[in-house]
Amino acid sequence: MSSEIVSVEDASLEDIYRVEVEAWGDDLSASKSTIEERLETHAEGFIGVKNEDELVGYLYGIRYDHEEVDPRTWEEATDLDLHDPESDQMYITTVGVSENHRGEGYGTKLLQGLEDRATEIGVQEIYLGRRDTDGNKRFYESNGYQEVEKIEGWWPEDGSSEGQGVMMKKQV
Ligand SMILES: CC(C)(COP(=O)(O)OP(=O)(O)OC[C@H]1O[C@@H](n2cnc3c(N)ncnc32)[C@H](O)[C@@H]1OP(=O)(O)O)[C@@H](O)C(=O)NCCC(=O)NCCS
Repeated sequence: MSSEIVSVEDASLEDIYRVEVEAWGDDLSASKSTIEERLETHAEGFIGVKNEDELVGYLYGIRYDHEEVDPRTWEEATDLDLHDPESDQMYITTVGVSENHRGEGYGTKLLQGLEDRATEIGVQEIYLGRRDTDGNKRFYESNGYQEVEKIEGWWPEDGSSEGQGVMMKKQV
Protein backbone atom coordinates (compact mmCIF):
# COMPACT_ATOMS: atom_id res chain seq x y z
CA MET A 1 0.00 0.00 0.00
CA SER A 2 1.43 3.36 -1.02
CA SER A 3 -0.16 5.98 1.20
CA GLU A 4 0.58 9.46 2.43
CA ILE A 5 -0.81 11.90 4.96
CA VAL A 6 -1.88 15.21 3.42
CA SER A 7 -2.93 18.66 4.62
CA VAL A 8 -5.91 20.61 3.42
CA GLU A 9 -3.89 22.33 0.64
CA ASP A 10 -3.50 18.93 -1.04
CA ALA A 11 -7.18 17.98 -1.05
CA SER A 12 -10.05 19.62 -2.92
CA LEU A 13 -13.44 20.26 -1.35
CA GLU A 14 -14.93 17.93 -3.99
CA ASP A 15 -12.63 15.07 -2.91
CA ILE A 16 -13.30 15.64 0.78
CA TYR A 17 -17.04 15.63 0.20
CA ARG A 18 -16.77 12.43 -1.91
CA VAL A 19 -14.94 10.70 0.96
CA GLU A 20 -17.48 12.06 3.47
CA VAL A 21 -20.32 10.39 1.55
CA GLU A 22 -18.32 7.17 0.94
CA ALA A 23 -17.58 6.98 4.67
CA TRP A 24 -20.93 8.01 6.17
CA GLY A 25 -23.52 7.38 3.46
CA ASP A 26 -26.20 9.82 2.32
CA ASP A 27 -28.05 9.92 5.65
CA LEU A 28 -25.21 10.74 8.05
CA SER A 29 -22.74 12.68 5.93
CA ALA A 30 -22.09 16.40 6.44
CA SER A 31 -23.05 18.80 3.66
CA LYS A 32 -20.44 20.42 1.44
CA SER A 33 -21.14 23.81 3.03
CA THR A 34 -20.64 22.39 6.54
CA ILE A 35 -17.30 20.93 5.47
CA GLU A 36 -16.34 24.27 3.93
CA GLU A 37 -17.25 26.09 7.14
CA ARG A 38 -15.19 23.63 9.19
CA LEU A 39 -12.14 24.15 7.00
CA GLU A 40 -12.51 27.94 7.19
CA THR A 41 -12.73 27.72 10.99
CA HIS A 42 -9.69 25.49 11.52
CA ALA A 43 -7.77 24.40 8.44
CA GLU A 44 -5.09 22.78 10.64
CA GLY A 45 -7.75 20.45 12.02
CA PHE A 46 -7.91 18.60 8.70
CA ILE A 47 -5.79 15.50 8.13
CA GLY A 48 -6.24 13.50 4.94
CA VAL A 49 -4.84 10.20 3.74
CA LYS A 50 -4.24 9.30 0.11
CA ASN A 51 -3.80 5.94 -1.61
CA GLU A 52 -1.64 6.72 -4.61
CA ASP A 53 -3.29 10.01 -5.67
CA GLU A 54 -6.77 9.28 -4.36
CA LEU A 55 -8.09 10.71 -1.09
CA VAL A 56 -9.52 7.70 0.82
CA GLY A 57 -10.02 9.08 4.32
CA TYR A 58 -9.92 12.20 6.44
CA LEU A 59 -10.44 13.47 9.94
CA TYR A 60 -11.23 16.89 11.27
CA GLY A 61 -11.05 18.42 14.73
CA ILE A 62 -11.49 21.70 16.58
CA ARG A 63 -9.71 22.97 19.68
CA TYR A 64 -11.28 23.87 23.00
CA ASP A 65 -10.81 23.14 26.69
CA HIS A 66 -12.97 20.11 27.12
CA GLU A 67 -13.27 20.32 30.92
CA GLU A 68 -14.65 23.85 30.71
CA VAL A 69 -17.71 23.05 28.61
CA ASP A 70 -20.37 20.39 29.04
CA PRO A 71 -21.12 18.85 25.66
CA ARG A 72 -23.78 16.17 26.18
CA THR A 73 -24.43 15.54 22.49
CA TRP A 74 -22.23 15.16 19.45
CA GLU A 75 -23.81 18.28 17.98
CA GLU A 76 -22.80 20.41 20.98
CA ALA A 77 -19.29 18.93 21.10
CA THR A 78 -18.65 19.76 17.45
CA ASP A 79 -20.07 23.33 17.50
CA LEU A 80 -17.59 25.45 15.54
CA ASP A 81 -18.24 28.40 17.87
CA LEU A 82 -16.32 26.48 20.54
CA HIS A 83 -13.10 26.58 18.53
CA ASP A 84 -10.30 28.25 20.52
CA PRO A 85 -7.01 28.33 18.59
CA GLU A 86 -5.08 28.69 21.86
CA SER A 87 -6.43 25.55 23.51
CA ASP A 88 -4.09 22.63 24.12
CA GLN A 89 -6.96 20.17 23.70
CA MET A 90 -8.54 19.01 20.47
CA TYR A 91 -11.89 17.34 19.83
CA ILE A 92 -12.19 15.07 16.78
CA THR A 93 -15.41 16.09 15.01
CA THR A 94 -15.25 13.34 12.41
CA VAL A 95 -13.07 10.53 11.12
CA GLY A 96 -13.99 8.40 8.15
CA VAL A 97 -12.47 6.08 5.57
CA SER A 98 -14.18 5.24 2.25
CA GLU A 99 -16.16 2.04 2.65
CA ASN A 100 -14.12 0.08 0.07
CA HIS A 101 -10.82 0.92 1.84
CA ARG A 102 -11.66 0.02 5.44
CA GLY A 103 -9.47 -2.35 7.42
CA GLU A 104 -6.38 -1.35 5.39
CA GLY A 105 -4.78 0.80 8.09
CA TYR A 106 -5.87 4.23 6.80
CA GLY A 107 -7.86 5.16 9.91
CA THR A 108 -4.86 4.34 12.10
CA LYS A 109 -2.65 6.47 9.84
CA LEU A 110 -5.06 9.39 10.23
CA LEU A 111 -4.89 9.18 14.03
CA GLN A 112 -1.09 9.00 13.87
CA GLY A 113 -1.07 11.99 11.49
CA LEU A 114 -3.21 13.91 13.97
CA GLU A 115 -0.79 13.13 16.80
CA ASP A 116 2.14 14.43 14.74
CA ARG A 117 0.19 17.60 13.91
CA ALA A 118 -0.88 17.97 17.57
CA THR A 119 2.71 17.91 18.71
CA GLU A 120 3.61 20.61 16.14
CA ILE A 121 0.77 22.97 17.10
CA GLY A 122 0.85 22.52 20.88
CA VAL A 123 -2.12 20.20 21.43
CA GLN A 124 -1.57 17.84 24.37
CA GLU A 125 -4.87 16.01 24.69
CA ILE A 126 -7.25 14.64 22.07
CA TYR A 127 -10.93 13.86 22.76
CA LEU A 128 -13.62 12.19 20.72
CA GLY A 129 -17.10 10.74 21.12
CA ARG A 130 -17.45 7.39 19.40
CA ARG A 131 -20.40 5.31 18.43
CA ASP A 132 -20.81 2.40 20.81
CA THR A 133 -19.89 -0.45 18.48
CA ASP A 134 -17.29 -3.22 18.98
CA GLY A 135 -15.42 -2.21 15.79
CA ASN A 136 -15.06 1.41 16.88
CA LYS A 137 -14.04 0.33 20.38
CA ARG A 138 -11.22 -1.85 18.95
CA PHE A 139 -10.17 0.89 16.53
CA TYR A 140 -9.70 3.58 19.17
CA GLU A 141 -8.42 1.36 21.97
CA SER A 142 -5.76 -0.17 19.76
CA ASN A 143 -4.68 3.40 18.98
CA GLY A 144 -4.25 4.19 22.68
CA TYR A 145 -7.52 6.02 23.46
CA GLN A 146 -9.11 5.43 26.86
CA GLU A 147 -12.74 5.59 27.83
CA VAL A 148 -13.77 8.65 29.84
CA GLU A 149 -17.52 7.98 30.14
CA LYS A 150 -20.59 6.66 28.36
CA ILE A 151 -23.20 9.26 27.39
CA GLU A 152 -26.86 8.42 26.73
CA GLY A 153 -28.43 10.34 23.86
CA TRP A 154 -25.07 11.25 22.31
CA TRP A 155 -26.34 10.31 18.83
CA PRO A 156 -30.01 11.28 18.92
CA GLU A 157 -30.61 10.55 15.25
CA ASP A 158 -28.62 7.34 15.00
CA GLY A 159 -30.55 4.24 16.03
CA SER A 160 -27.63 1.86 15.41
CA SER A 161 -26.27 2.04 18.95
CA GLU A 162 -29.40 3.24 20.75
CA GLY A 163 -28.05 6.76 20.92
CA GLN A 164 -25.28 5.87 23.37
CA GLY A 165 -21.88 7.41 22.77
CA VAL A 166 -18.56 6.79 24.47
CA MET A 167 -16.22 9.68 25.25
CA MET A 168 -12.56 8.76 24.77
CA LYS A 169 -9.33 10.66 25.24
CA LYS A 170 -5.62 10.33 24.67
CA GLN A 171 -2.63 12.26 25.98
CA VAL A 172 -0.14 13.00 23.21
C1 LIG B 1 -13.76 3.56 12.05
C2 LIG B 1 -12.92 3.76 10.79
C3 LIG B 1 -12.51 5.24 10.68
C4 LIG B 1 -11.67 2.90 10.91
O1 LIG B 1 -10.84 3.11 9.78
P1 LIG B 1 -10.08 1.88 9.10
O2 LIG B 1 -9.17 2.44 8.06
O3 LIG B 1 -11.05 0.88 8.69
O4 LIG B 1 -9.23 1.35 10.36
P2 LIG B 1 -7.84 0.57 10.39
O5 LIG B 1 -7.69 -0.26 9.16
O6 LIG B 1 -6.75 1.52 10.69
O7 LIG B 1 -8.05 -0.31 11.67
C5 LIG B 1 -8.91 -1.40 11.57
C6 LIG B 1 -9.60 -1.58 12.91
O8 LIG B 1 -10.72 -0.71 12.98
C7 LIG B 1 -11.85 -1.45 13.39
N1 LIG B 1 -12.98 -1.13 12.50
C8 LIG B 1 -14.07 -0.40 12.87
N2 LIG B 1 -14.93 -0.31 11.88
C9 LIG B 1 -14.41 -1.02 10.83
C10 LIG B 1 -14.86 -1.32 9.52
N3 LIG B 1 -16.05 -0.88 9.08
N4 LIG B 1 -14.07 -2.07 8.72
C11 LIG B 1 -12.86 -2.52 9.15
N5 LIG B 1 -12.38 -2.26 10.40
C12 LIG B 1 -13.15 -1.53 11.22
C13 LIG B 1 -11.55 -2.92 13.28
O9 LIG B 1 -11.85 -3.45 14.54
C14 LIG B 1 -10.10 -3.02 12.98
O10 LIG B 1 -9.44 -3.65 14.06
P3 LIG B 1 -9.06 -5.20 13.94
O11 LIG B 1 -8.14 -5.30 12.76
O12 LIG B 1 -8.45 -5.48 15.26
O13 LIG B 1 -10.35 -5.90 13.71
C15 LIG B 1 -13.67 3.33 9.50
O14 LIG B 1 -14.07 2.01 9.64
C16 LIG B 1 -14.90 4.18 9.13
O15 LIG B 1 -14.77 5.15 8.40
N6 LIG B 1 -16.10 3.81 9.65
C17 LIG B 1 -17.33 4.55 9.32
C18 LIG B 1 -17.34 5.91 10.00
C19 LIG B 1 -17.15 5.77 11.52
O16 LIG B 1 -17.82 4.99 12.17
N7 LIG B 1 -16.22 6.60 12.06
C20 LIG B 1 -15.89 6.58 13.49
C21 LIG B 1 -16.97 7.24 14.24
S1 LIG B 1 -16.76 7.19 15.98
